[in-house]
Amino acid sequence: MTTGKGQTMWGGRFAATPSEIMEEINASLDIDRRMAEEDVAGSRAHADMLAEMGILSFEDNEAIQAGLDAVMTELREGSFPFRRELEDIHMNVEARLKEIIGEPAGRLHTARSRNDQVVTDFRLWTRKALDNSARLVGGLQAELVIRAGEHTGTIMPGFTHLQTAQPVTLGHHLLAYVEMLSRDRTRLTDCALRLNECPLGAAALAGTGFPIDRDMTAEALGFSRPMANSLDAVSARDFALEALSALSIAATHLSRLAEEIVLWTSPQFGFAKLTDQWSTGSSIMPQKRNPDAAELIRAKASLITGHFLALQGAVKALPLAYAKDLQDDKRLTFEAFDTFDLCTRAMTGMIATIEFRPDAMRAAAARGFSTATDLADWLVRELGLPFREAHHVTGTLVAMAEKQGSDLSDLSLADMQGVHKGITQAVFDVLTVEASALSRTSYGGTSPVRVAEQVAQWKQRLGLE
Ligand code: ARG
Repeated sequence: MTTGKGQTMWGGRFAATPSEIMEEINASLDIDRRMAEEDVAGSRAHADMLAEMGILSFEDNEAIQAGLDAVMTELREGSFPFRRELEDIHMNVEARLKEIIGEPAGRLHTARSRNDQVVTDFRLWTRKALDNSARLVGGLQAELVIRAGEHTGTIMPGFTHLQTAQPVTLGHHLLAYVEMLSRDRTRLTDCALRLNECPLGAAALAGTGFPIDRDMTAEALGFSRPMANSLDAVSARDFALEALSALSIAATHLSRLAEEIVLWTSPQFGFAKLTDQWSTGSSIMPQKRNPDAAELIRAKASLITGHFLALQGAVKALPLAYAKDLQDDKRLTFEAFDTFDLCTRAMTGMIATIEFRPDAMRAAAARGFSTATDLADWLVRELGLPFREAHHVTGTLVAMAEKQGSDLSDLSLADMQGVHKGITQAVFDVLTVEASALSRTSYGGTSPVRVAEQVAQWKQRLGLE
């Protein structure tokens, strides 16, 4: 083994060193150094197992473990000498170990290859990242639930096609995102369960003739079991694809919420205001308050989806087993997690502090004939009209109000009776936005009582009380 520039660990059969450009395209250290601690953990488990099985002497294992302790200390203190010419984190750790403990370091790679080593590290890293992202999503859910609890009775327009549809409550609207994020969270945690099998010991691709104990290393690293097929173990990346697809879906939800923030904070809507901490100004237009973080979340959601697609493209035509194409899996995955985590933290901050404007929301809910469905339902319930006929009568009344430049509740009883003679004064009770929202008490509906129940349930589920 060598450590100098230009001399590689695999250089035995090579007379010349790689060209600089070859080194540049081949090196992954700048990316995979983030798996340094996972790499040390994998090596510790491997060496312990080799010693246990009599493949490595106990003295050599002791030296290796002590050396890995020193490496870990250097990593944590930031003094580990990373060397790009050593290609990747695996060879950096091993080379440093050799510098620290000498000869026994060369025995660590017995019955192991970088192919099973890298993907073991990568699974460990991704398992932790999934856990962290799921926790951040839980934090965002908590803020949404808290804000929903403050607004169980706040009326706002509900939209379809972004046209005023029916009055809803703000709490209900916010809880819709809590539900989405709950599915996102379970996608992330489910994925971690499937990921949790250990590739270590698959060696280069075919397994090894050394009498290793794969259950032992799997257990030491917290995996549920060793992977059953060595070819699959070194080449499968569906765990990363699944993680990225789960992130991509979750980021899509963040993006939808971001879009609502952009709309709601525009002067045209005026439903909400971001605090100074979460707004930016314009260099030319002094009046501007821009929702940049929300816009960036919207854009970054696509970046995460792009990373999923890029990895899927890298994997889809790869024959078994390992190929270097797989080296870029880490860059894509790390970036996707970093981006997702940042977006989730930014969204959590915005939701925690955004100032809602209930008056503007209520006023908007009252425009656009949002209680037309309530009128139609009243005709069905009170007059026994078939819904289609009630829909038609209501449509005529909406057209009449539109012509008069008024709202449905401003029509006179006489006007109404001109369209359908059975209509009585009682109809006016269902034409307010409050009555409309209050009436929607079906399970999952927008009525404040239902929303308050959901808020209570979520507070319990998220441990907020
Ligand atoms: N840096 C490599 C990667 O990330 C490690 C595995 C290298 N294996 C090999 N056969 N060249 O994929």
